[in-house]
Amino acid sequence: SWREEFRGCVDIKANGPSSIGADLSLHGFSHVYGLPEHCDNLQLRDTRDGEPYRMYNLDVFAYELHSRLGLYGSVPLVLAHTADRTLGVFWLNSSDTFVNVEYSPAEQQVPAESQTDIHFLSESGVMDCTVLLGPSPQQLFCQYAQLTGHQAFPPLFALGYHQCRWNYNDEADVKDVDAGFDLHGIPYDVIWLDIEHTDGKRYFTWDPVHFPKPAALQRHLEKKKRKLVVISDPHIKVDPDWSLYREARDGEHFVKDRVGQIYEGTCWPGKSSYLDFSSPTTRAWYSRLFLLLFVLQGSTPSMFVWNDMNEPSVFNGPEQTMPKDAVHYGGWEHRDLHNLYGFYQHMATADALITRSGGLERPFVLSRSFFAGSQRFGAIWTGDNVATWEYLKISIPMLLSLSLSGMAFCGADIGGFVQDPDPELLVRWYQAAALQPFFRGHSAKETKRREPWLFGEEVTAVIRSVIQERYCLLPYWYTLFYQAHISGLPPLRFVPLWVEFPKEQSVFSVDDQYMIGGALLACPVTAPGVKEVKVVLPGRDEVRSAQAFTGGQVLSFPVTLDTVPVFQRGGSVICRSAASGSCTAELQQNPQCITVALNSQGSANGELYLDDGHSFRYRDTKAFSLRRFSMMSGSLAASEKGTFDCDNVVQTVIVLGLRGEPSTVTVRQSGAKDSACAAFEFSKTSRVLSVSGLNLSVMKDWEIQISGSL
Ligand code: NOJ
Repeated sequence: SWREEFRGCVDIKANGPSSIGADLSLHGFSHVYGLPEHCDNLQLRDTRDGEPYRMYNLDVFAYELHSRLGLYGSVPLVLAHTADRTLGVFWLNSSDTFVNVEYSPAEQQVPAESQTDIHFLSESGVMDCTVLLGPSPQQLFCQYAQLTGHQAFPPLFALGYHQCRWNYNDEADVKDVDAGFDLHGIPYDVIWLDIEHTDGKRYFTWDPVHFPKPAALQRHLEKKKRKLVVISDPHIKVDPDWSLYREARDGEHFVKDRVGQIYEGTCWPGKSSYLDFSSPTTRAWYSRLFLLLFVLQGSTPSMFVWNDMNEPSVFNGPEQTMPKDAVHYGGWEHRDLHNLYGFYQHMATADALITRSGGLERPFVLSRSFFAGSQRFGAIWTGDNVATWEYLKISIPMLLSLSLSGMAFCGADIGGFVQDPDPELLVRWYQAAALQPFFRGHSAKETKRREPWLFGEEVTAVIRSVIQERYCLLPYWYTLFYQAHISGLPPLRFVPLWVEFPKEQSVFSVDDQYMIGGALLACPVTAPGVKEVKVVLPGRDEVRSAQAFTGGQVLSFPVTLDTVPVFQRGGSVICRSAASGSCTAELQQNPQCITVALNSQGSANGELYLDDGHSFRYRDTKAFSLRRFSMMSGSLAASEKGTFDCDNVVQTVIVLGLRGEPSTVTVRQSGAKDSACAAFEFSKTSRVLSVSGLNLSVMKDWEIQISGSL
């Protein structure tokens, strides 16, 4: 009577039926968030009107909008927020899980009396539930990072632009696309190969006809300091003539079925077996495979990896995944650890790339499936979205939810994976994605080609400037990722606005605009034909662009196709690269431009993190510098030490929000006895001060004194 049947798949429930649950009442809270991955709004909905949120990692092609069904990954973390505290509930369970949310009725929504009930129900496992007490959002993020791990610190190139497609057909195609970026003056860092690059969907191999010289191809890209990413899925083609299959079979590296035979399902290669990444022995074997096979068979250190289909996707399995009664290492049923399958593959692949460099280089691995803690291994993306405006719009709350739940390095396929975007949608998608952590264009096999220069000069020009602007902002992004890595703070404080403005009730449900770090507020356009966007400007400090706006208002902001509303918060300092270059490797030589946006007290602060951009030396030998810029009483000072050295200089300083025209601007470098006068320009209309032609070492302390403007 415990047997269950789903579309011909029988689950005998060998251990009998089981379930475990907990009901929590969160007193005083009326806003809850988290529980990714779902294609829905940021604030969790009351589930009494329908389905609970399901946490069960599944391969869902062109997933439904506004749905609580399970998608590719799961993080069983609920965050609750009120004006005076933030709380987290982490339900550590990797089996099929349902979560119900019930808000107290509207008439009781006096903050102190409101209540939100959360019901967790999991199919198996033990009670392992942690309440994170905050009380600030920042403290909560740190607590969650202590519990599940910190964001892996990505190599700098991984924050650049990635060009992907299913598929680039052959080596000549890859070289043409690569050359296209140079021809059109568009920066990019990585080109990707999907499953067709393999020999018959046998991962770790190359199609001998279309990719005969993969190492030479990588060297070609590497000459321009660009990288290649190849896909490596967890299913292995059942092919007794293939040594890798035999090795996995003979080494007991596959998941078994309930009678102890190797489990077989279907996926891209046809009949396939699935590596059991929950086994430490299998993970170690898999890591070695990367080393041996990739090195011997055409890879170089500039090749990185993409783990896909790792929910795992089984085309003929129940709900297109592995049967729950399949058996893993240690006798665990798949039912118990389903949501951890992709997590473990991600872990094994990241380990492999670290091992490949003898422990010296930071890996980059993108995974589709994930669980709490996957942030330690790299990036994730939101899978098979569709080329429509609704999917562009929903990508923002989807990514905000992920970011809130520790998965800071996340992104969505630009343009939409399924179907063809029209040029306006494509442009708006690039603009939004350039302001999100993982920045990759990708499209399905049947779609038309959509490299950025294929839609006419006007579209090329807008996309070029969007990508260039992303590159210029990378010093800021990189600093945010360092902070995320060290403290647990998500760079997308790309978090909803309430994280930066925790007391402002009016922003608790805003999920179409967000903060990037503490300094930038982004409000991408996500609808067609838009001429004006409404931007909520929270806070009491003034928020300024070249024009100053007072916080605490909803601003109507006119836009054209090339405008992306981004505002710098009063009180912040941002470093940008003065030029984008053709890839991130060039950024480190480019001079910096510092933008200071003063708050109403005339002060501002910010940081810049620098290191070699790729190794673990920042961790092992402390080879990094964290520079602090603070402006007070008309004086901008750069301080703090570090052991990383570079020739980078600050060329321009822009100050927004001075009350009047300065009479003099002087610069004093550390060690110099006297200050020198600096040339400057001041616009009386916008009150923007620009001090250019500077040549201040980023590594040295210096001070710029602005007189007569206070
Ligand atoms: C599904 C992934 O979501 C998609 O990004 C990829 O292109 C296809 N698998 C083919 O590998």
